[in-house]
Amino acid sequence: MDRWILNLLKDTFGNKGGELYVEDLPATRLSSEYGTPLYVTSEARIRNNFRRLYSEFSKRTPFRLYYAVKSNSNLAILNILRSEGGWVDCSCPAEIYEASVAGFPAERMLYTGNYNSREELEFAIKSGVTINFDDGTLIDKLPSGSKPEMVCFRINPGMGKGGKEGLVFAGPDSKFGSPEKVALAGYRRAKEIGVKRFGIHMMTGSNVLDPRYFAQITELLMDIAGRISQELGIEYEFVNIGGGFGIPYRPDEVPLPIEEVASSVVEVFRRKLDEYRMGKPLLAAEPGRYLVGDSTVLLSRVCHVKQREKTFVGLDAGMSVLLRPALYGAYHPILVANKLEEQQEYPVNICGQICENTDILAKDRPLPKVKDGDLLAIFNAGAYGFSMSSQYNNRPRPAEVLVSGKGADLIRRREIISDLVAGEQVPPRLMNR
Ligand SMILES: Cc1ncc(COP(=O)(O)O)c(C=O)c1O
Repeated sequence: MDRWILNLLKDTFGNKGGELYVEDLPATRLSSEYGTPLYVTSEARIRNNFRRLYSEFSKRTPFRLYYAVKSNSNLAILNILRSEGGWVDCSCPAEIYEASVAGFPAERMLYTGNYNSREELEFAIKSGVTINFDDGTLIDKLPSGSKPEMVCFRINPGMGKGGKEGLVFAGPDSKFGSPEKVALAGYRRAKEIGVKRFGIHMMTGSNVLDPRYFAQITELLMDIAGRISQELGIEYEFVNIGGGFGIPYRPDEVPLPIEEVASSVVEVFRRKLDEYRMGKPLLAAEPGRYLVGDSTVLLSRVCHVKQREKTFVGLDAGMSVLLRPALYGAYHPILVANKLEEQQEYPVNICGQICENTDILAKDRPLPKVKDGDLLAIFNAGAYGFSMSSQYNNRPRPAEVLVSGKGADLIRRREIISDLVAGEQVPPRLMNR
């Protein structure tokens, strides 16, 4: 059933003699060399994703592509995106630090936090990044006397859309962004303290596969941007429409027609720039999932198969390694990497070893008959995969490997048990008693 994913991603993953390949390397070889669970990322896939999205927009209008660091902050991946000419959107001081370690200069960073503390704002000011304020009043929490070079506000345009309920980031129930009036007051305040350069931003939801949505939401943002610009006499240097570009996870989903998205968004963008005489800002976007989601497969071994009324296939990867299925019922395509040619006829529940009944990666999923030691491949694990992993149940976090053609590099070592207690301290009075 999930073999469709191999057809869809055939320039990245392959089937040779019933065995899964990542670029030119067999998954079984990678798993014996690096162990499991193992996140394996294709470098070429990330580069192709970046180029496809960037070229569709940039051939129509001056365009800037930020990468949402939170989706996968591995330093090797950040380096790939930097070398492609990407900028970064950071959600917290640690991401600003990571991006700078990966070689991004402060001028290529946007800091989109929410409910920021004064200390975080001070860190951002010292780092020299552009702050994207989630609330119009946050500007008053900057260290006294500071005058940022440029400011941006995150707009909540009143509606949002997401692939799941938990992935809608705008609208009346959303904790994010500012409505027009609040943002207007924020820009006014910024002008009062002498700020001269401005951007405007929204991020309204994630994993959207409806191509028409992006132009609709851009129209709402551009109307708000236009009214604020006319009221205050400001010009924006960039208009950032956020991320949210979806990828297919389920067999019935089709890839987002990115050409159609780009041409409809740019048409609205241009029309509204003229209507409100907004000058010539850059258009920008800040995807995470679209750039890295389908670049990565999670390899995991079968540890034990339990036959009951239902069959449970227990893996060495569970919700501590890949949280999305437990967190919001996310679907990930799953294949048996060493049995690609065998009939997928047995519906099984695929679970991990965590002591929670929500530790289920897939329910009633048809697989070939599996036994201990078989290697499962969980696709589309590159975005919000490792980045949401934890040490829950005292499971060390997995390793990550980057494949490029016939070569593979370890890009994060596997944690060992002593890493679990590395930051802990026992007061002497409790020892040896
Ligand atoms: C502010 C912001 N920008 C961009 C993104 C990236 O979203 P996506 O991975 O759906 O493109 C997110 C995701 O949560 C976000 O919060």
